[in-house]
Amino acid sequence: MSDTAILEIDGKKYEFPIIRGTEGEVAIDIKKLRGSTGGLITLDPGYKNTGSCTSKITFLDGEKGILRYRGYALEELAENSNFLEVAYLVIFEELPTKEQFKKFESTIKSYSMINEEMKDILDGFPKNAHPMGILSSLTSALTAFNPKAVAIENEEEMYQAICKTLAKIPVLASWALKKNRGYPMNYSNNNLNYIENILEMMFKIPTETYKLDPVVVNALDQLLILHVDHEQNCSTSTVRIVGSSHAGMFASISAGVSALWGPLHGGANQAVIEMLESIAKDGGDVEKYILKAKDKKDPFRLMGFGHRVYKNFDPRARIIKKSADEVLASLGIEDPILEIAKKLEAVALEDEYFIKRKLYPNVDFYSGIIYRALGIPTEMFTVMFAIGRLPGWIAQWREMRLNKEPIGRPRQLYIGEKYREFLTVEKR
Ligand code: ACO
Repeated sequence: MSDTAILEIDGKKYEFPIIRGTEGEVAIDIKKLRGSTGGLITLDPGYKNTGSCTSKITFLDGEKGILRYRGYALEELAENSNFLEVAYLVIFEELPTKEQFKKFESTIKSYSMINEEMKDILDGFPKNAHPMGILSSLTSALTAFNPKAVAIENEEEMYQAICKTLAKIPVLASWALKKNRGYPMNYSNNNLNYIENILEMMFKIPTETYKLDPVVVNALDQLLILHVDHEQNCSTSTVRIVGSSHAGMFASISAGVSALWGPLHGGANQAVIEMLESIAKDGGDVEKYILKAKDKKDPFRLMGFGHRVYKNFDPRARIIKKSADEVLASLGIEDPILEIAKKLEAVALEDEYFIKRKLYPNVDFYSGIIYRALGIPTEMFTVMFAIGRLPGWIAQWREMRLNKEPIGRPRQLYIGEKYREFLTVEKR
């Protein structure tokens, strides 16, 4: 392929460099488009053809079903690593040594206390507030308790700020759940590892001893690894664009939580279980819902099937399906909803409609099932996704700031009214 792309307008030719990524991806560099053409812009709603940055964090090939963090295959990380180690990898670019990991874990633990005044903010929410709304607000509120801007060129300051963020957000996530249940808030237990601590904070109640189940701990650890990063998706792009105005890490991540909340993004895992519940309520007739999904006059879609980028398979779904089977078997779970999910999956995988359109179960189909089996309430599913995605948001924020990227500010094509003379109210 040539090294330049040529754009011809009104007989005049403009040349733009073609740049290549390390995995053979190519992009036309149009940074000089406006300047050289006298104001021409590109129009690309949803940014389906637009790269907003270069990045060294995650490589994704939707056709081949490849997902790698910093060059390491997701499958190998999910099998051999743990969430906190993967968090270190995506943020600090290399897998940690033993000493680096020890320091990372203990620094995170050192920040796990939350200012008591944060509870006053929490008190202001209605009991039935969605935990994602609470998490986004409390994350933003952390800015008020940590007003000093991080000097990004100061490695130690950045390190401390990152550990602080990783420490506090799971605590706030657990508080969002406790608020909803009307139970007292738990604090971190620094004797536990990161994942055990999340589970204990969510499920421990003062009247009972909470016993950690290794099956649950391992399943959650793996599930969160699968969610760590997914390059420039909606919430990650949000974090980068908010941070590009030099807003702080808490403010940027709070915006990312809000973006993740939508049902077209992280909210899909909740939608899957709600769909399965409504199929169960309607008598559990899976065939009926397959027919509805195939009926072009019916807006119903099988939630948890299909993906914008993965048209062969979602590599995360493959890993998670295996884990879902193991978790259900080892926890001895018999749940009618899960039976419906299995039937739905089996029918859809053999149905011509789904095969032809390459509609496979995606990560959200199985993650909802596992979360439910682990006893995590439905409204917390997207919060769990946010905890998993946190290292990715931090890594992308750090990369954007260290690359000294300019403020994100897209252009538009104005198609509104031309100049109109102002009319006083009597003349309108
Ligand atoms: N159920 C039934 N039919 C479907 C589904 C579905 N879940 N998904 C796509 N189709 C059909 C479409 O009707 C269309 O059919 P046609 O060619 O006959 O018109 C064809 O498959 C292609 O669909 P598009 O909407 O063009 O595919 P796109 O790539 O734009 O959409 C999306 C991807 C949004 C994920 C879609 O498959 C969907 O809505 N799935 C359900 C929601 C979901 O699970 N979202 C989570 C995604 S994973 C994540 O965010 C982590």
